[in-house]
Amino acid sequence: MSQDLAIPTVDLDDLRAGGPSRDAACAAIREGFGAYGLVYVRSHGIAPETLDAFYDAFVRFTSLPEADKRRFARPEIWYQRGWTPPNTEQAVAGGGQPDFKECYFAATMALDPECKTEHPEICADNVWPDDPRFAEVYTVMGNALHSVGQELLRGAAVALGLEERNFTDRIDGAPHVTRALRYIPLTPEQVEQGVLWGEEHTDFNLLTLLPGGRFIDPSGQRCPPPDPHSGLYLRTRATAEHPAGRKVRGAAPPGCLVAQVGQQWEILTGGTFQATPHVITAPKAPGYSRLSSAHFVHLHPHQVLTPLGPFRNEQTLRAYSPPVLAGTYDLKTLVDIALAPPAALNSLGYRHYDRLAEQRAMPR
Ligand SMILES: [Fe+2]
Repeated sequence: MSQDLAIPTVDLDDLRAGGPSRDAACAAIREGFGAYGLVYVRSHGIAPETLDAFYDAFVRFTSLPEADKRRFARPEIWYQRGWTPPNTEQAVAGGGQPDFKECYFAATMALDPECKTEHPEICADNVWPDDPRFAEVYTVMGNALHSVGQELLRGAAVALGLEERNFTDRIDGAPHVTRALRYIPLTPEQVEQGVLWGEEHTDFNLLTLLPGGRFIDPSGQRCPPPDPHSGLYLRTRATAEHPAGRKVRGAAPPGCLVAQVGQQWEILTGGTFQATPHVITAPKAPGYSRLSSAHFVHLHPHQVLTPLGPFRNEQTLRAYSPPVLAGTYDLKTLVDIALAPPAALNSLGYRHYDRLAEQRAMPR
């Protein structure tokens, strides 16, 4: 494990200030998203009480009997809203082993109505539990994280020499989703076997915001991390010296969020920004659970995933071809991670060949 690597912190106040302060923040963005695929974010304006209220509501939900939680599971829309039961989602690298987590998905802002017709699963209406506080605190949290994402996207555009709104113009009305997760307690045997809470993966969206988690001890009480090794680890970009990359602990400084690059941002930047491979390791003690959350900023489904002008050359075009619409990319990835059925891919493109067949079968 590498201790000599330092993930940069981006202070949003520096981005807001302009001048040399903004230049320093832009340098941190280039270094963080380029080498690590990740930055820490300071001055984000999200109060600890906001996060606490969010997790308190989520704990009340996860504590319900499973039969009650099942009322809010929506396999028919690939679990893109409501509750995802444990052992459902699989990382692509997981070899068929589902992640040990239960989740909740909700979109906290308005979606493009056309996309609701074109992508009924990823743009579905929310499903909210009976607890009225749940939707309220969830929406506050999701919208606050999204605002942080927008500031970072504007700063990153400037850092890359693009027009400031280049990225944010591509996300209006997109199926941004806020996710609450609970990594479930492992048995002593699973701890012995080194079972992971979440297998190593890269996020498939544009940008992910992680506001930090909460550990729960075997008695159900909030507790400090049970050991220094459990939590988020990321893998750095491969170099000649370190072809497998280097594993780095993703431990944000107090009060900071984590922001990480997803596959869609890597494609738009031709690999200048790197989608971060990351893994969630469980503690070396059984019985602990962990609450976590993420806000996934997505491209609008009509955006074309191909390197943008300054990043287009033969090498990047070869690496990120053929171009694909972001909505199609989302659908295909949800099949890859076992949330959508493989048959969902049959809905792509023209599918009305039966019409001609029926016409030809008619008597003349
Ligand atoms: Fe992830």
